[in-house]
This record gives sequence, structure tokens and C-alpha cells, in this order.
Amino acid sequence: MALSMLMPSVFADEGMWLPLLLKNKEADMQKNGMRISAEDIYNVNNASLKDAVMLFGTGCTGEFVSEQGLLLTNHHCGYSFIVSHSTVERDYLTNGFWAKSKEEELPCKGLTITRLVYMEDVTAKVLNEVSDNLTETKRQEIIDANIKKVIEQATANNHYKAIIKPFYYGNQYFMYVNEVFRDVRLVGTPPSNIGKFGGDTDNWMWPRHTGDFSVFRVYADKDGKPADYSKDNVPYKPKKHLKINLKGVNEGEFTFVFGYPGTTKQFLTSDAVNYVQNIEDPTRIKLRTARLDVYNRAMNETPAQRLRYASKVASVANGWKKWQGEVRGLKRLNAIERKQAFEKEFNQWAVNKDKYKNVLAQLEKTYSDMRDLNLSYTYLNEAIFASDLMIQVRQVANIISVANAENADATEVQALAEKLYNTLSNYYAKDYVNHRKVDMEIFVKTMTIFYNDYAKDNYPWLKAQIENDNKIVKVEDYFSNVYEKSFLSNPEKAEKLLKNFKAKNINKMINDPAVELFLPIWGKYLEKDRFELAAYDYKIDSLYRIYVAGIMERNPNKEYYPDANLTLRVAYGNIKTYEPKDAIRYEAFSTIEGIMEKENPEIYDYVVEPKLKQLYKNKDYGCYANEKGELPVAFIASNHTTGGNSGSPVLDRDGNLIGINFDRNWEGTMSDIMYDPSQCRNISLDIRYCLFIIDKFAGASHLVEEMSIIK
Ligand code: ARG
Ligand code: GLU
Repeated sequence: MALSMLMPSVFADEGMWLPLLLKNKEADMQKNGMRISAEDIYNVNNASLKDAVMLFGTGCTGEFVSEQGLLLTNHHCGYSFIVSHSTVERDYLTNGFWAKSKEEELPCKGLTITRLVYMEDVTAKVLNEVSDNLTETKRQEIIDANIKKVIEQATANNHYKAIIKPFYYGNQYFMYVNEVFRDVRLVGTPPSNIGKFGGDTDNWMWPRHTGDFSVFRVYADKDGKPADYSKDNVPYKPKKHLKINLKGVNEGEFTFVFGYPGTTKQFLTSDAVNYVQNIEDPTRIKLRTARLDVYNRAMNETPAQRLRYASKVASVANGWKKWQGEVRGLKRLNAIERKQAFEKEFNQWAVNKDKYKNVLAQLEKTYSDMRDLNLSYTYLNEAIFASDLMIQVRQVANIISVANAENADATEVQALAEKLYNTLSNYYAKDYVNHRKVDMEIFVKTMTIFYNDYAKDNYPWLKAQIENDNKIVKVEDYFSNVYEKSFLSNPEKAEKLLKNFKAKNINKMINDPAVELFLPIWGKYLEKDRFELAAYDYKIDSLYRIYVAGIMERNPNKEYYPDANLTLRVAYGNIKTYEPKDAIRYEAFSTIEGIMEKENPEIYDYVVEPKLKQLYKNKDYGCYANEKGELPVAFIASNHTTGGNSGSPVLDRDGNLIGINFDRNWEGTMSDIMYDPSQCRNISLDIRYCLFIIDKFAGASHLVEEMSIIK
């Protein structure tokens, strides 16, 4: 403590800053060690670092590292594309993949890479003719019309795509004018036991030893413009690519992360935090625990099943574990009490201010009014749509509603049935006998929780059905029976009903037990809940707009940053250890020693490749070792990041690449709601381990040769 008080520089740590306004942070960043300028990071007139940092797909970040469009991101960001190119016979997910030449690179359908051309504060244009005394509806109408106009102007004579997003709940608006590349190819990926080493056990945890990266290349037409996939496309030449620093940085040194954080909610009121901490997160965790038990057992049965469920489980497990960390972190911080204390002060300040004096009370009331709706929506996503069966039933429900519409068109209904049948026959063709058991178990388990914890008290019709059926001993039996009897889980019945569908058979659909179960729940959502939810969300946002304006007015000298909203941001901090518990201190760097310590041939996630072991034995690390001769693997720093920052470049004081962000620590996942400088760390892959794997492990040194390495 005494020491830290003497230290001249105090790191800001918290915050995700807008590149356009980075000038405001430049002095602080430089005071903390940065040796480049805000203009080196974001500049629209000259190439700057922003021209190397891309939105990868719709929720990750990637960075250019060569003048031939070579792009690095995380393994888990490329995951679904790696899976889609894999089969049991040619299993790139398990064994890795390295294109030896550009011809061997694998096109990734549907993957886009988005480059920010420029951003602009369009608040005045968007709020033109908006005043405080408009109704919210009228206000939104004007805003929507203004946004449309501004976007049209920005994209009239170019190939750009523009988007305008609200900041601080609509107190400010920024426009992002983007260039979207559509021909992106997979260049390389390490095998799973490197790219996902430690799996879901190590996920969200420090110390970490995951080689979480994959390599792509962006292609453009001959003029360097985005184009659909074509053999004739050429590697895109970025305006800027990152230089790589192989020397690493020391504990305490400045770093920054440049990327696309998705969502944070720093302004949530105490009621909202209470809801997340005590209702929403626990509900989701419980339902996902049940699902994951089933998947994990299935995945350990056969390699085919492992591949089949890999992508699904990765995403289900990811949220499941993060929420557990979040609940724990919020409790540890006494987040609810702190928010309550803050709100009390706010109300004292606002007592004579008409604009602000009731806003917290209104938020409180709105949250309490929408509580049941929120919970029912959580169950819809986490329980009802947990199984494939229910997702298929939704399509049946759609057919029924088309068939029941006034002047229904019989051929359209028939076409929809045919389409569903085609989807289903592909589905049945994929090892359905085994998969059916898995899906049924998921259905039964999640629906049983849904029933016991929620539906019993909220859906009297379901309670009556279950309790009045004297054949049913356990709730589980009821749901098993639904699954077994549904035509959707019986390929012959499905074929008979759906192929050449006859209008007179619509009752067979309506009377199907899974459909009978689903329709009232879905109907309530479609006809009532979704509109009410949207209205509440809208109301909540409008109230936050006022509340946040009040917070800023009350304390105008404090510096604020807008919540993450999947726009390009800069976070900065330093390489930093932390103390998660009494008497435990986590170091900031991990090395290959830790991989060998974790090795366990019996556990899938901890198998170490023989080739990697050999390199370790011979200490054959090439130029990728640190000055002590060790091979660095990952490091932690105090940069404020969130989901979407995966794949983001981690840069040193000169703006050179030292790592790839891929995670946060478990103790710090509450930073989406409340940041704690003593506990919150981002986890990055050390660029030296990444290049070591490409070069020494995979022998793809031609890729390293493309890069610009500072020796
Ligand atoms: N926790 C990281 C993120 O939020 C990595 C997720 C992928 N890895 C996994 N084991 N599921 O995206
Ligand atoms: N793994 C996360 C992602 O995919 C980053 C970790 C976080 O949430 O900070 O973006």
C-alpha cells in the first residue's frame, strides 16, 4: 500500500475509450509509458493502427500482421469455421490445419471482416429537432428518420456500409462507416489440444496455457475492394499491419488493447444488479448445468460425438462459467449495497431537479413490473429452446399458423412442410439413434427444471395436465412421454405426415404432444410477451438516458466512458499480478512449464502433443524464448475488456504487437457491471508462443516470413 502511494503513476485501468476521442486520454497514456500518439492509433487521413484492427465476424476482433492480408484472431473465434471444414476422416479441429500455399487456404462462407473507415460524432444531426417535451414515441420517430438520412448521405457514392449507434443510452450518437470484406479464408489452426488446451476446465481461469489463436487471410478484388469469394480475388493489402515485438514486456509495463468489446452495463441500478445476481444468472446456470452434464457424457463416448457437440458445448459452457464468476464477483464487491448508496446520494442531489428527481423511482418500478416477463424470457431461451425438438416444434408452429390464417394457401403450407421435412431428413441421417437419446435427455431435464421452478406456478394448464394424469409418477415421465410420442422424434411418422402434406392432416400436427406443450407458451410470447418486453426495454433505456445524463451533470469533472456496444475501443493498463485470495498471489506470466505440469494423457483437455513435448525436451524454442530461455505462453494485464475483445491485439508502448487477447480471469468477470482494479485482468496469448507454434511446431515458417518482426 505504502509503496503504491509513492508510485508516481496511477493507472486508470477501467474504461473502454473511443478512438476518435483518444486525444483526451493521450496525456494519461503517455504518462503511463506510451511512446506513440493518439493519432498513431486513430487517424482518418493517414494509415494508423485502426487500419490493422478488424471486427472478425459478428463478435470477435482480428488484426492484420502482413501486407498480404494475413489476419490473427483466437482459435475460439475461428472455431465454428474450423469445425465446418472438419470431418471425422479429415479432422482439422483435432489435428490442426496449415495451408502450405495460398491455393490450399479454405474459404469460409459467411465470415466477414469489417474495417472501420472513419467514425463521426453525429449527435447533433441525429437529435436535430428533438426536444425534452416530445413523447418518447415521437422522439424516436424523429431520431429514426434523421439516422436514415445521415446514413444515406454517408454511403451514397461509395461501397461503404454505415451504422449509427447510441452512446450513454442515447445522450450521444456516433456513426461508423465501414468496409466489409466477404472473402475470408482459413490459413492455419493449431490442433485442439493446443488451441483449446485446458478446454472448459481452464476457460476463464488464470494461470492459463492455451494457444488460443487461428490464422486467416482476407481477399479482395483486384482494386482492393470487398468482393464475394472468387478464385480471381487477390490477398487484400491493408493500409497498415502490426509489427511484432518478440522481446516481450515486463511486469508493470504499459499495454493497450484495441478491439471490439461487445456489451458492458456499468450504469445498472441496484435493482437490476440484484436481478442479475440473484435471479437471472442462477437460473441460467442451473439450466445449463443440466444440459452440460448430458453433452459432456455424450462427448466422452465417441470421437464423432465429440465433434458433433464441440461447438455447441463451447458456447453453452462459456456463458455458464462466466455467470458463476460474475455472481461471485458482484457479491465480493457488495455491488448491490454500493449501488444503493450511490443511488441514495443521487436522489439527495436530485431532490429539487424536476428532470431527475423521480427517475430512479421510475426505474425501480419498471424493473419490478417487468420482472416476471424477464424471467419467462430467460426460461424460453434457456429451457424451452435447449433441445432440438423444441426448435423443430417452433417450425411446426409456424406451419400451423400459416395454415390457420384467413385465406390460407394450401400450396404454401405444403411447401413449408416439405422444407421442414428436408431439414429433418438431414438431421435424422446424422446418427439419429444416438443423438435422439442425448436430445431427449436434455429436453426432459431442462423442461423438468422449468416446470418445478417456474411453470408449476405460472402455467396452470400445464400443472393441471401433469397432476391430473394419474399414470404419471414423476414429472420427468410426463416430458419423456411427450418426446417419445411426438412425430418429430419418429422419422417414419415425420415422413408420413410432412411429405406431400395434406391440409386435412393439420390436426395431426396440432394434436402432437410436443406441439400441444409448446403452442401456449410460444403463443403467449408471440402475441403478448415480446411486445411488452420491447416496450419495457424501450422504457428502461429512456429512463437510463435521463439517469446517466443526471450522473454526468452531478459530477461533471469525472471522466466517463460509454458502455461497450461492439464498436472499436481502446483499453489501457499494465502487466499486473493479482491476489485472488488470502495468501495467494498470481504471477503475470505463464510458460510452457505449466503445460507440462498440467499434462494428463487421461484427460482430453490436457493431452500434450508429442511434437510439442519433443520441442520442450530439447528446449528448442528458436528466437521465441524469453531472456531466461523459457518459452512464454500467456500473460495478464489490467486492461478493461469484455466479450468481443477476443482476438484483439495487445500492444506495447510503441504500438507493436505483444499478444492476442483471449479471455478474462474468473475473479474479474463482474467487470461488465462493476470493475475492480485489484481483481480484473485480461488474459492474452503471448505472441511468442503463437509464432513458436506456427514456426517451430507446425513448420509454417512461410507465414512468419510474411510478418514484420522487430528484432
Ligand atoms: N472465455 C473465452 C471467451 O469468453 C473463451 C471461450 C472459448 N473457450 C471455451 N473453452 N469455451 O470467449
Ligand atoms: N473470450 C472472450 C471473447 O470471446 C473474451 C473474454 C471476455 O469476455 O473478456 O470475446
